[in-house]
Amino acid sequence: MNDLKLLLTVAVILTVACSFPTKNENNEKPEETAHPVSLVQTEPSMGEKIYNQFCMVCHMKDGSGVPVLNPPLIKSEWVNGDKDQLIKIVLNGSEGGKYPVNGETYTNAMTPHNFLSDEKIAAVLTFVRSNFENNSDEVTPAEVAAARESNGK
Ligand code: HEC
Repeated sequence: MNDLKLLLTVAVILTVACSFPTKNENNEKPEETAHPVSLVQTEPSMGEKIYNQFCMVCHMKDGSGVPVLNPPLIKSEWVNGDKDQLIKIVLNGSEGGKYPVNGETYTNAMTPHNFLSDEKIAAVLTFVRSNFENNSDEVTPAEVAAARESNGK
C-alpha cells in the first residue's frame, strides 16, 4: 500500500512538472516566437538597406550600372581593390570619367556621401564587396574612420 502511495505521489509531481511549460507558453511568448528565425533571414541587412536608399538609383538594384552614365559594381577593381581608395570614392564622389570599369568610362557625376556615418559606409561597402559577384572581405567602421581622417572630410 505504501508503495502505491509513493507511486501516486511521483505521478502527481510529474504531472505538475510537465504542465509548467504549457502554462508558460500561454502566459508569455518564448523568445523564438517573438523573433521568428525566418523573418531575421529575409530582413535586408543594414548594408543592403543603405545601398537601396543611396546607391541603387545610379548603380541599379543588381549593381549593373547604366551604360555610358554609371559604372557597374560587378567585379569592379575599385570595389574589390584598395579599401582606403574605395572608401574615399564614397566619401568624395566624383565629377565623372575618373573610374573606368572594364575599359569603359562613365560620364555621370557621383554625389559625395560623407554625410553617412562610419558604420553606414562600412556596412554598405561590406554589402557591395560581398554581393554582385564580388567576394572580398568586409570594411570596418575603423577603416572608414581612418580613411575619413586622411581624406580631411
Ligand atoms: C548620382 C549617381 C550615383 C550615386 C547616388 C552613387 N554613385 Fe557611385 N558612381 C557614380 C558614377 C557616375 C561613378 C563614376 C565616376 C567617375 O568615373 O568619375 C561612380 C563610381 C563608383 C565606384 C567606382 C567605380 C565602380 O563602378 O566600381 C564605386 C565603388 C561606387 N561608385 C560606389 C557607390 C556607392 C557604394 C554608392 C552609395 C553609397 C554610390 N556609388 C552612389 C554614380 C553614383
